[in-house]
Amino acid sequence: MVKVAVVTGSNKGIGLSIVKGLLKRFDGVVFLTARDDGRGKAAVAKLNELGLHPEYHQLDITDRNSVARLADYIKEKYGGIDILVNNAAVVSGLDLNVSYKETKEVLDINYFSYHIIQELLYPLVRDNGRILNISSDCGHLSNVRNEYWIKKLSNKSLTVEEINEFVNWHLEAVRTGTFNKSDIADEGSIAAYRVAKVAVSALTMIQQRELDGRNISVNSLHPGFVRTDMTKGLGFLDVDQAAETPVNLLLEAPQSLKGAYVWYDGQVLDWFDANADYYFKFKTMLDML
Ligand SMILES: NC(=O)c1ccc[n+]([C@@H]2O[C@H](COP(=O)([O-])OP(=O)(O)OC[C@H]3O[C@@H](n4cnc5c(N)ncnc54)[C@H](OP(=O)(O)O)[C@@H]3O)[C@@H](O)[C@H]2O)c1
Repeated sequence: MVKVAVVTGSNKGIGLSIVKGLLKRFDGVVFLTARDDGRGKAAVAKLNELGLHPEYHQLDITDRNSVARLADYIKEKYGGIDILVNNAAVVSGLDLNVSYKETKEVLDINYFSYHIIQELLYPLVRDNGRILNISSDCGHLSNVRNEYWIKKLSNKSLTVEEINEFVNWHLEAVRTGTFNKSDIADEGSIAAYRVAKVAVSALTMIQQRELDGRNISVNSLHPGFVRTDMTKGLGFLDVDQAAETPVNLLLEAPQSLKGAYVWYDGQVLDWFDANADYYFKFKTMLDML
């Protein structure tokens, strides 16, 4: 049986470096995927020059048909997936007046796409497989300052419907012009991105509960502050450094590491500590300019 790894949004940035890291160390086929074929194939050509040979498939995580096409292809050719990295994401504009349209786009790509992936790709993940959801420091619970939602999200029997409600609460606040910046850390900067990433980390724990019976591990990870297009080239780590912890987690962590929120240095943090200082501070970026 040929083992299979899939990384979403891997034509550039951290995703591309995770593909690179897996190609060097994973004993199986590694799928580089991209929403845009041109960008995807250019990334494959770059890896080929390094002597690395991923398999390529188009994948737009917000497009059911695209996800279904990848699922069918893998099912037919390989029968299943051993490693799935949910990496693709976008960031919202940096000012506080982010439009409804942009907010919706960020929430759709960074959070709601997980429902499509879970429905169509998770059934292909083999028993004892590994799923890594790339979250962020913006995905730690300490990014939320609204008491009602801190309490709700901290509930150990939180449901997917409640996470959806949390995300839609933010979307609705933006739509009606009632967004209160004190509901989100750091004066509400990049709120949509924070809301989506908090939702991803919360969802990770529910996905873990659902997949535990098949001994599949599902963890979420903050990859560090990394120099990519998303950060306009600012950050403390380059993409290859940032890929080290995720690749180690995927290949070397004990299978008992489950439902965890992992920091870029490999530490498992208490996601539920709403008063912790793990939330992203926009000033960190400004200080680097
Ligand atoms: N960089 C950081 O400091 C940092 C910090 C914390 C968390 N993260 C997280 O790390 C992950 C990778 O980020 P990055 O910094 O490497 O960003 P990046 O360089 O901007 O790469 C993002 C990737 O996601 C893809 N993508 C966006 N929307 C997509 C969609 N609908 N379907 C498929 N692919 C899509 C992009 O494709 P296109 O080229 O087509 O746009 C691109 O390949 C993200 O989840 C991000 O939130 C990054």
